[in-house]
Amino acid sequence: MNRKRKRKVINNLQQSLFMEQIEQVISTSIYPADSVREKLESKFKDRMREELKLNTSVSYVGNKRIPFLRIYRYKEAFAFNFVKDFLKRFGANSDDYVFDPFSGLGTTMFTSMIYGIPSIGIDKLPVAYFISKTLPRLLFLKENEVKEVWDSIKPRIGKSKPADVAMDVPIMQVAFSEENLLLLRKLKSLIDELSEPNRDIFLLLFFSILEECSFTSKDGQFLRLRRDKKVSNPIEALSKKVAQVEEDIRHMRFLYPGLTINKEVFPDVYLGDTRDLSNIKFRKRPTIIITSPPYANRYDYTRTYSLELCFHFVKNFEELKAIRFGILRSHIESKVRKGEKPPHPAVEEVIEALSRKKLNNPKIPDMITAYFVDMQKVINEWYRVLAPGAKVAMVVDNVRFEGEMIPVDLILSEMAEKVGFDVKEIIVARYKGNSSQQMKKYGRVPVRESIVVWER
Ligand SMILES: C[S@@+](CC[C@H](N)C(=O)[O-])C[C@H]1O[C@@H](n2cnc3c(N)ncnc32)[C@H](O)[C@@H]1O
Repeated sequence: MNRKRKRKVINNLQQSLFMEQIEQVISTSIYPADSVREKLESKFKDRMREELKLNTSVSYVGNKRIPFLRIYRYKEAFAFNFVKDFLKRFGANSDDYVFDPFSGLGTTMFTSMIYGIPSIGIDKLPVAYFISKTLPRLLFLKENEVKEVWDSIKPRIGKSKPADVAMDVPIMQVAFSEENLLLLRKLKSLIDELSEPNRDIFLLLFFSILEECSFTSKDGQFLRLRRDKKVSNPIEALSKKVAQVEEDIRHMRFLYPGLTINKEVFPDVYLGDTRDLSNIKFRKRPTIIITSPPYANRYDYTRTYSLELCFHFVKNFEELKAIRFGILRSHIESKVRKGEKPPHPAVEEVIEALSRKKLNNPKIPDMITAYFVDMQKVINEWYRVLAPGAKVAMVVDNVRFEGEMIPVDLILSEMAEKVGFDVKEIIVARYKGNSSQQMKKYGRVPVRESIVVWER
C-alpha cells in the first residue's frame, strides 16, 4: 500500500472510531445528572439536528478555490458556500439587507454582493475591517491592471526608504529574517505612496504574504513562532499573489459573465463594536444576519493578526494592547469588570464547577464570564436593530475546559429567547476533538460546532 493510500485508510478508521464515540456520547450525558446544562440539552433536543455535510463550509477551507476570497487567509472565516446556502434557505432577495456584525474577512458581504443583495458589516479589529471593505473592490479590477502597477513598483524597491513599523512589539523582533524585514518595509513604503484604489488593493496583497515571509504560523491560539519554517521571498510571494488576482479576474468573468455591481449592492463596512450599534448608520433595519462571533476558546485575534497590525494599523505596543482590550472578551487576558456576573445559570454552574478544579490557567473563569456578558450585550443590540421577522444564522463552537463542557450554542440560544428571539433550530455542522491535555485527563469528548438559527 502506498503512503497516500495508507494515510487515507488510517484517516477513515480514525473518523469511524470518532463517530462511534460521538454516538456513545450522544446517548450518555456528558453533564452531571439534573444539572442546568443537562436540562438545557433536553429543552432544545427537538430543535437540534445534524447536517454534517456543512462541515467544510463552516470553515475557511471552503474558500480555497473561491476567486478573491482565497487571496487573504482569514482562518476564522466561514466559506462563500455557507453564506450562499443560508441566503437561499432564508429566501433572500434584493429587498433584503444582510448584516454581519463580526465581519472578519467579509465573506457574508462579498457573497451577498455577488447575488445582488445589499449588505453591511462591522468589525472591531482594524485589519478585518480593512479586508472586509477592500475585498469587494477587487471585483472592479480590469485585466492586467494589478500586474501593471506591480511592474512599476518592483524596480524601485531597492532604493525605497523602509517604512516605520511597530518594532517594539516582541513578535516583530523575531518574526522575520533581517533581509525579509528590510524588503517588506521598503515594499510597504512604496505601497503607501500609491493612489487609491491601488494603495488599498496592494496593502491587502501585502498583508496576505506576511505569514509566508515570516517564521510564524497562524495555527493555534497565538501566532506560533516556527524557526525551522521555510520562508518565502517577499518579491516572489507578491508576484504570485498578483498572478492569482489576475487569474481570479478571468475566473470571475467566466463564473459570472453578466455580473454588474451597482451602488446599492456595494457593502457598507464599519470599524465598530457590535456590543453597541448606536453609531452605525444602517440604510434600513437589517432583515438577515449571517455571522460567527469569536469563540470562547482563548484565541486572541490581536496576536494572530499582529504582523498585519504592526505593519500598518498600530504605531507601538501600547496601541496594539488598546485593540486587544477593546475587542469582544473571548481571549485569556479578558478582565471581568466590577459588578459583572455570569448572565446565565449554565455559565454560573460552569464557573462553580471550575472553582473546584485545578486549572492550567486561573484566568479561564473570568474569560468565560466576560464572554457571555459581552454576548448578552450583542444579542440585545441585534434584537434592537433587526427588522421584525429578521432571520439569524450564527456559527458557534462549544468549548470544554478541565473536562467541563460549555454548550455555548444552547446558552446563547436561551439568552436570545429571553430577549424575544424565536429559536428555530440548532444545526450541528461538525464535531471537533479536544486538546491532547484534556483528552489524557478527561477522555475524548466530541465538541459541537453548530449553526444557531433564530428569528426576530
Ligand atoms: C469568527 S470571526 C468572523 C469571521 C467572518 N464571519 C468571516 O467569514 O470572515 C469573528 C470576528 O469578530 C471580530 N470581533 C471581535 N470583537 C468584536 C466586536 N466587539 N465587535 C465587532 N467585531 C468583533 C473579530 O475581529 C473577528 O474578525
